[in-house]
Amino acid sequence: MKLLHVDTSVRFERSASRSLSRYFVDQLTERVPAVEVRHLDLAKETPAHVNELFTQAAYTPPGERTPEMDACLWASDALCDLLLESDAFVFSIPMYNFCYPSTFKAFLDNVVRGGKTYTHAEDGRLVGQLSRQKALFITTRGTDMRPGGTFADYDALTPALRAAFGFMGVQNPQFVDAQPVQFAGVEAREMALARARKDLDRIVADWQTRD
Ligand SMILES: Cc1cc2nc3c(=O)[nH]c(=O)nc-3n(C[C@H](O)[C@H](O)[C@H](O)COP(=O)(O)O)c2cc1C
Repeated sequence: MKLLHVDTSVRFERSASRSLSRYFVDQLTERVPAVEVRHLDLAKETPAHVNELFTQAAYTPPGERTPEMDACLWASDALCDLLLESDAFVFSIPMYNFCYPSTFKAFLDNVVRGGKTYTHAEDGRLVGQLSRQKALFITTRGTDMRPGGTFADYDALTPALRAAFGFMGVQNPQFVDAQPVQFAGVEAREMALARARKDLDRIVADWQTRD
């Protein structure tokens, strides 16, 4: 199994989301030795924001692109290919201002690409190309936005992830949401992380049986 492991937090050693994704990858590689992990750190390898040339190039058929357009799409093509070649994804994503960090938005703008991660069928339907990949999203929030709570309506992160990856064809994405990890004290953080690790154990077992 080729696993793409993507981290986004600007924190490193003190990062809750990174510690959870590392925990998941360690557990999985222990149980499924054939897993081949490719790590992408969006805090260090942040994709460029898209610009006018990028949009022109992305909407021009491959055979009609100028050398300048091809060069502009090179990094985006590589990221799309990385997604397409992977069998599974684990993304760790802290909530920044109700949604994902801007680095992750830059990543999405580079990978939601016609002719790559989605295509047009003859009848005009859009067909997401990531339908065979397993996908796990580990999210962390400083506050508690679980359904039914005071802040539940402020969660724009989960719907945004579902939309973008559903559009690219991902079926049944799995979510492990650790919250609150910052604004409710140390004990609440530890409990949130313990709940998340338990959920991750279940997903490791699930992926092990589906591999
Ligand atoms: C720029 C910034 C914006 C944040 N916005 C929110 C927010 O809207 N809601 C929230 O619950 N926590 C917010 N937080 C807290 C982070 O979500 C929390 O510290 C993070 O999930 C912990 O993950 P990490 O340790 O992996 O960085 C924000 C943190 C930063 C740095």
